Amino acid sequence: MKSSIQHIDFNVEEIRKDFPILSRKVNGKPLVYLDNAATSQTPQVVIDAIVNYYCNYNANIHRGVHTLSQEATDAYEQARQKIQTHFNAKHSHEIILTSGTTHSINLVAHGFSSFLKKGDEVIVSALEHHSNIVPWQMLCEKTGASLKVIPMNQEGELVITAYDNLLSEKTKLVFVNHISNALGTINPIEEIINKAHKFGAAVLIDGAQACPHLKPDVQALDVDFYVASAHKMCGPTGVGMLYGKEKWLNKLPPYQGGGEMIAEVTFEKTTYADLPHKFEAGTPNISGCIAFGAAVDYMNSIGFDAIATYENELLNYATKKLLDIEGLKIYGNTQNKTSVISFNIDNIHPYDIGTIVDKLGIAVRTGHHCAQPIMDFYKIPGTVRASFSFYNTKKEIDALYQAVKKAKLMLS
Ligand code: ALA
Repeated sequence: MKSSIQHIDFNVEEIRKDFPILSRKVNGKPLVYLDNAATSQTPQVVIDAIVNYYCNYNANIHRGVHTLSQEATDAYEQARQKIQTHFNAKHSHEIILTSGTTHSINLVAHGFSSFLKKGDEVIVSALEHHSNIVPWQMLCEKTGASLKVIPMNQEGELVITAYDNLLSEKTKLVFVNHISNALGTINPIEEIINKAHKFGAAVLIDGAQACPHLKPDVQALDVDFYVASAHKMCGPTGVGMLYGKEKWLNKLPPYQGGGEMIAEVTFEKTTYADLPHKFEAGTPNISGCIAFGAAVDYMNSIGFDAIATYENELLNYATKKLLDIEGLKIYGNTQNKTSVISFNIDNIHPYDIGTIVDKLGIAVRTGHHCAQPIMDFYKIPGTVRASFSFYNTKKEIDALYQAVKKAKLMLS
C-alpha cells in the first residue's frame, strides 16, 4: 500500500447521487456494493446515453444515407475517438470496439495462430484471469508453440528475475494483466514490455482491472496490444476495446467474417475493409459503444488522480480494519496494489461468509475469481474478495467489518 493522502475536493456523497442503484436496499438493508472488480455500477449519465440512443436515433451504422443512420454512425465514431483520446492511441483506427476483454484477447490469439509454429514460445503470468490463459493455451495447442509462466511469490507479485530467464529469441508473445483481478497487484508492465521488446516479442496487456483505477497511455507504454471492458469502468456490459498498434492490426487476419468488414465480395474472392472495420463484423452493440464513450467522459470528469488517491485511502482503511479480526488473512500484500482485498478466515469457507454478509446487504465476490492458478498457489479453494470503487465510503467498510465479524461468530 502507498501512504494515505487526505483528499480535499473529492465529495463522495455527491458522487453517489450519480448512481441510482446505490440508494436501493438489499435484504432490507442499504446496499453496500463491494464487488466492483466483477462489474462497476452505472451512473445516470451512462444510462441516459443508452436511453437517448433508443428514444431518438436508433439505426444501424455505416450503412444508410438516412439521417438516423448518420446520427448513429457519428455518435459511434465519436465514442471511438473518446476512447482513443483516453488511451492516447495515435490513430482512432487503432481502437477496435469489441464485446469485451475476452473478445479482444481471443481476436489477437486467433490472429497469432497464423504466425506461430512449433518451437515458438509464449509467456503468460501466474497472476492471470482465465480469459488470459485459456485463449493462449488454445493457441499453443493449435500451433505447437509452448506456454511459459512467470511465477508469483507469497506477496502476490510476479518474480521478474524468473521472467528474465524465460525470455529468449524463441519468445514471440507475452501476455500479462496490468492488475490482478483476484489480488489487486499492479504488475510492472513497463519493465515487462521493455524486456519483451528486446527479444522482438509482442506484448498484450489485459487492462480490464486497471482501467477503473488509472488511465493507461498506450504510446508511452509502447505496448503492442491493450484490452479492456467498459463494464468495469462505469460503462455497460457487452462492450470493450482492443488497442493494437497499426502495424500489428494490419498484419493480423480478420477474426470473424461478415457484413461491414469487407471491401469487396465475389464468390471467387473477398477483400477486407480497412482498419478498424476489418475487425468489426456484423452490427455491433451501438448503444453500448456510445455509452462506453459516455463512461470514459464520466470517469475523466471525476479525475483519475482523485480516484486513485481516494481509493488508496479506502484500501488502507479497510486493510487495517479487517486485519483487526482474529484469524483473518489477506492474500496479496504487495505495496503496489489497487483497492482489492482478498481474504479468508481460519477454517471458514469463503462462500459461507459471502452468503451471510449478503443477508446484511453487502455484495462481495467469493470463489476462485476465474483465477484458479492463484488459488492453487496459496492452496485454498477461494477467497472472499471486497473490491472498492471511488463511490464507496468508509461507512460501508465499517459495515463490511461488522458483517464479517458477525459471520465469523456464526460460523466458528
Ligand atoms: N473478471 C471479473 C472478476 O474478477 C468477473 O470478478
